[in-house]
Amino acid sequence: MDWVYIEDLKGRLNEDIEIRGWLYNKRSSGKIRFLLVRDGTGVLQGTIYSPDKDHPLFRTFDELTLESSLILRGKVREDQRAPGGLEMSISDIEVVQIAEEYPITPKEHGISFLMEHRHLWLRSRMQHSVLEVRTELIKAIRDFFDGRGFRNMDTPILTPSACEGTTTLFETEYFDQKAYLSQSGQLYNEATAMAFGKVYCFGPTFRAEKSKTRKHLIEFWMVEPEIAFATLDDIKVLGEDLIVSIIERVLENQKEALDVLERETAPLENIKKPFPQITYEDAIRVLNEKGNSISFGDDFGAPEETALSEHFASPVCVTHFPAKIKAFYMQPAEARPDLVLGMDILASEGYGEIIGGGQRIHDPALLEEKIKEHNLPREAYEWYIDLRKYGSVPHSGFGMGVERMLSWLCGIKHIREAIPFPRLLYRLYP
Ligand code: 4AD
Ligand code: MG
Repeated sequence: MDWVYIEDLKGRLNEDIEIRGWLYNKRSSGKIRFLLVRDGTGVLQGTIYSPDKDHPLFRTFDELTLESSLILRGKVREDQRAPGGLEMSISDIEVVQIAEEYPITPKEHGISFLMEHRHLWLRSRMQHSVLEVRTELIKAIRDFFDGRGFRNMDTPILTPSACEGTTTLFETEYFDQKAYLSQSGQLYNEATAMAFGKVYCFGPTFRAEKSKTRKHLIEFWMVEPEIAFATLDDIKVLGEDLIVSIIERVLENQKEALDVLERETAPLENIKKPFPQITYEDAIRVLNEKGNSISFGDDFGAPEETALSEHFASPVCVTHFPAKIKAFYMQPAEARPDLVLGMDILASEGYGEIIGGGQRIHDPALLEEKIKEHNLPREAYEWYIDLRKYGSVPHSGFGMGVERMLSWLCGIKHIREAIPFPRLLYRLYP
């Protein structure tokens, strides 16, 4: 008998087949017993019918507890009354294990209980749907870059130096040296871009963020494209194209998951290129007009990002930040060397920054000056300065946080649900 996944059932109707999964729910009504079984790809209703109340399958049915693992055998046919429109007439149940009393019940649980049981919580419908969208998102990102000729170049996780400032570095021992977990693959991307023209890296990144917010993870996934000869304007367009292509793909393929999440899709459907673009200075003006007291030179915090993000119906691209609030590698603007050619793309609906990037310094002397200004150890950046000595070209790139993007797509309130096992300020378990 063939083992078939629930998502593939449409092509296997009225055949004798096997479904392998876990008990999701059960109920009985007169001579019928109903089982809801999930197998990871969907949920299927199975029925057992018998006029005999001592039917052996009824006895098996009675023993089954929530999340018991089992193999169902029988034929599946269409039935509009069943959830999902399909139903199996069960001819046999093989119990793999009778589960102990399952700790997660339909009643409301507090968030810390659920986080403590994250290994089980993943099975719940909403969590499952968010992570289904996550796999789609990751595929969409890879297809986008692969389809445009970008070379995927993985960058190291153990590194000798900082990329995004030294305050959020995770330090570890590397035999008799110090090493840091990567905050971003960017610096290495700049080297591979000079070797391959256009590249992307995609992997986990780490930030020892001491702030507890709805938008920060300690470990998160980031996709980072980098292009030799590209300017700020080029990567602004690339960022827009990426976002729009992800949204189209998710709306097309993940309708069911978005329904489960009760995600209103109109705000996503309405997103069109090009996104509005404003400078940091104009953004400060907009914020001040809205009653926010931020002044020039302050970095945006969560309230500012949210306010800006709500001000525009579309994602918005902010550029030309004060050099002193951005990373050392950012190219100064020609007419205003106190500003840098950085860009942040903020999502709409209050979701804040999803992309950060910009144009990089290509002049070796200027780069050395900035490394000194930021009190970074020159030796660790020797190789990075080298890139500016052997055929230096203007180049640009950005990073998109997968969990930020996913939170927005799914309309979830806290980023901790956007990754299977979140690492948070006060959580390393499970
Ligand atoms: O703006 P960030 O810090 O930029 C960089 O790391 C650049 N080196 C990237 C590049 O140019 N190649 O981070 C980029 C994105 C942010 O826009 C956000 O989406 C995400 O990474 N991000 C986080 N996501 C979750 N938790 C955190 N603590 C994050 N910090 C940044
Ligand atoms: Mg940023």
